Amino acid sequence: MTHEKTFIMVKPDGVQRKLVGEIIARFEKRGFKLVAMKMMKADGPLLEQHYGDLKGKAFFAGLVNFVSSGPVVAMVWEGKDVIKQGRVMLGETNPLASLPGSIRGDFSIDIGRNIIHGSDSADSAAKEIALWFKEGVVSWDCGEDKYIYE
Ligand code: RTP
Ligand code: MG
Repeated sequence: MTHEKTFIMVKPDGVQRKLVGEIIARFEKRGFKLVAMKMMKADGPLLEQHYGDLKGKAFFAGLVNFVSSGPVVAMVWEGKDVIKQGRVMLGETNPLASLPGSIRGDFSIDIGRNIIHGSDSADSAAKEIALWFKEGVVSWDCGEDKYIYE
């Protein structure tokens, strides 16, 4: 069983709209395991690193400006195929292209207010977890795992 980890962040719009609990509940109910979480204000340099591959984009400055404008909730979730499944649970980048049932499809409309970030590959998950959780994550045994995985 290959369990992987992904970095999920509720952005300032999701925090302001009090969607943190709803988002955590969706990942927990799916069966994924929370192994790190903190609320923080992300500064420009951190976000410029986090969104480094988007540096040339027209929306880059606005994105960094918005995500640094208020608190975010940074998390690491663990489980089988959680990187890809997390992206499916988030929906498409553009909420208007996101299906109902996905987080963005249920709770957002504009692309710059799509409330949540999720790692898009194993490589970016590893980089993002190292960047946001320099202190490391928590390793723990979940008693329910035998009822989630066969
Ligand atoms: P995320 O990184 O936040 O999970 O989103 P994503 O992979 O689906 O999209 P990405 O291309 O990495 O873009 C990061 C965030 O930038 C904003 N964005 N705005 N105006 C635009 O065309 C545009 N494109 C992207 C979105 O908030 C997106 O989540
Ligand atoms: Mg992305």
